[in-house]
Amino acid sequence: MNRTSVLAGTGSAVPGQVVTNHMLAERMDTSDQWIRSRTGIAERRVVEPGTATSDLAVEAGRRALRSAGVDRVDAVVVGTATPDHQCPATGPIVAAGLDLGTIPAFDVGAVCSGFLYALATGSGLIAAGHAERVLVVGAEAFTTIIDPTDRATAPLFGDGAGAVVLRAGDREEPGALLGLHLGSDGLLADLIIVPAGGSRQRSLGVEAPREDHYFTMRGQEVFKHAVRRMEESAREVLGQVGWGLAEVDWLVGHQANLRILHAVADQLRLPRERAFANLERYGNTSAASIPLALDEAAATGRLRAGQRVVLTAFGAGATWGAAALTWPDLGRNGAAPPAPARI
Ligand code: UT7
Repeated sequence: MNRTSVLAGTGSAVPGQVVTNHMLAERMDTSDQWIRSRTGIAERRVVEPGTATSDLAVEAGRRALRSAGVDRVDAVVVGTATPDHQCPATGPIVAAGLDLGTIPAFDVGAVCSGFLYALATGSGLIAAGHAERVLVVGAEAFTTIIDPTDRATAPLFGDGAGAVVLRAGDREEPGALLGLHLGSDGLLADLIIVPAGGSRQRSLGVEAPREDHYFTMRGQEVFKHAVRRMEESAREVLGQVGWGLAEVDWLVGHQANLRILHAVADQLRLPRERAFANLERYGNTSAASIPLALDEAAATGRLRAGQRVVLTAFGAGATWGAAALTWPDLGRNGAAPPAPARI
């Protein structure tokens, strides 16, 4: 059977509030020079108090549906590590916000690999015949779990959402999702962790100290694992689809650090110019980073119909993954779609 998932539309949304490196340097011991040279980030978008992940996800989803020319899907899958609430999931809130009716809607938790895990879940629903069309979203109000006074993490992260519509189609069509690889290693769970707020500390009956409610990361170790796993995963999907590296038009990696994206490209012996990067303006938006990058790359005409694209990510868990697809003709006839919506 040749049934596969085909990417049929993209959309994204970011908050209007911009926080530059210079603004951060006014409130903590850091500098624009340090942040730029170590990460490639110049500014990030930050939600105002009261704006939640679903607000960004609904707007990104609306744009993806419009781009796909549809107003109905059969399921919504949201990759997020910053759900609106601990309970319920954000997926149903997004489906209701988009007026999609009583379709299945749920979250997938794989942090910075969340979009690839959500994409795998959505395409699995299509492959199994449970859905003809699925809205797959990566959305985060990630700054809500960051200690705003912590120079080790506050410069790195930002908020945003990206979404794609998948539809059932044929492997030969532009837009076909051709290869997929996912992995995890729970022995590395404490490399990147928000210690409190889940059942572990609650069940101990211990009141958590303030800092335990915030995101912590052992950055240098994560850096090494990220480069290794993203390279391995990319090679795995290239093997699945039988593409040589010279045939890859774009490597769209999780936007955590420009040095990581360059290191992965170097390991793969891929020219760095083919590693798409927009983290300079958004920072690390976790599960949102890949679909936000895809929407921007398509909007600016860098991603064109028929091009061969490899996606890859690494994140807390640890989790990682990669996907290979050809880029679809989104029917824009050369006209650039709107820039990311600003919430
Ligand atoms: O999204 C999930 C995946 N996440 C990632 O992939 C992130 C992976 N890790 C990284 O991107 C990098 O490790 C960081 C950006 C987090 C850190 O960069 P680094 O080059 O590994 O720096 P470092 O942690 O080794 O710190 C170097 C120095 C230290 O000072 P000393 O010990 O050399 O005197 C830090 O205290 O930089 C200092 N430092 C800072 N200085 C100014 C750490 N943070 C800052 C800061 N401003 N914000």
